[in-house]
Amino acid sequence: MENKEEIIKVLIDKINNANDLKTLNDLKVEYMGKKGIITELQSKIKDIPNEQKKEYGMNVNEIKNAFETNYATKETELKTAELNKKLESEKIDVTLPSKRIRKGSKHPMTRIREEMEDLFVSMGYEVYDGPEIETDENCFQKLNLPLGHPARDAQDTFYLENEYEAFLLRSQTSTGQVRVMEANKEKGPIRVVCPGKVYRRDDDATHSHQFMQMEGLVIDENVSMADLKGTLELFSKKLLGDKTEVRFRPSFFPFTEPSVEVDVSCFKCGGKGCPLCKQTGWIEVLGAGMVHPNVLRMCGYDPEKYQGFAFGTGLDRFAMFKYGITDIRTIYGNDLRFLNQFDRKDD
Ligand code: PHE
Repeated sequence: MENKEEIIKVLIDKINNANDLKTLNDLKVEYMGKKGIITELQSKIKDIPNEQKKEYGMNVNEIKNAFETNYATKETELKTAELNKKLESEKIDVTLPSKRIRKGSKHPMTRIREEMEDLFVSMGYEVYDGPEIETDENCFQKLNLPLGHPARDAQDTFYLENEYEAFLLRSQTSTGQVRVMEANKEKGPIRVVCPGKVYRRDDDATHSHQFMQMEGLVIDENVSMADLKGTLELFSKKLLGDKTEVRFRPSFFPFTEPSVEVDVSCFKCGGKGCPLCKQTGWIEVLGAGMVHPNVLRMCGYDPEKYQGFAFGTGLDRFAMFKYGITDIRTIYGNDLRFLNQFDRKDD
């Protein structure tokens, strides 16, 4: 076969000139297909005289090998190029700044509730969550406020109509005292806080028809006013700062005896007098007292054996002092301009 070198040269040129996989594949048909150049050379072997067959066969094989190796190299080259092109066109630039995702943050009331709960849990209290729709019994009668008692006036609330007539929206979380004492089958010691929403017929800058309280109740043998004061002092210092002082003033609640109103020294001026404390140096934060024997008895406890203290505080008031909120109604207004001010990174 005198033109072997020429055939090889031509096929290598053709392969090298193929710029895409389709053209390359066409060459495969041209050379190796049914009527392909190499296929025909192979089939001609039968016409070659015997003594030349070996050499002819070797030449054809050489051509075939040349085709296959060059073809394979070119095919890899074109496939790589095609893949690179695809990757290039689908490239994502991860260095582009992303759209700012708006994330929510805790509502100031959730924040203050959780902070207070954590404080009491660290002192061994449990958290009890009671219903907002209550009976007159739990909200008033069992708290020593029988029907017609004048002290009910201070806590006028919303009553449910028709078949629910016996129900009302609780005006104080003191309902939690009744529920927890009644639920305690052993009538043993208790240490709970009951945070939650309460309702009253009020509406001005410092009073909302809906607000939040946290009740505290401790029942045990040998519990005294000193324990109440110590507990509230620790709580106030942790919540409002180490220098905070606590003072008790005599007061009246039907479900505690004796009853006190509790003030904390103004954390803003340190007690000197400022607009926040109305120049008095003190801020009223909660009502408290020793659980009335009538309440203990009505909830199944023996007042000869057990005493206890209870306190109730307005969470809104604490949030207002802590965060400098001047109108309680903004807390419940759902206005993002107000709420975004509490969107701090620290939680
Ligand atoms: N429940 C009272 C109120 O809402 C507060 C209070 C609770 C007072 C517990 C004494 C003991 O005003």
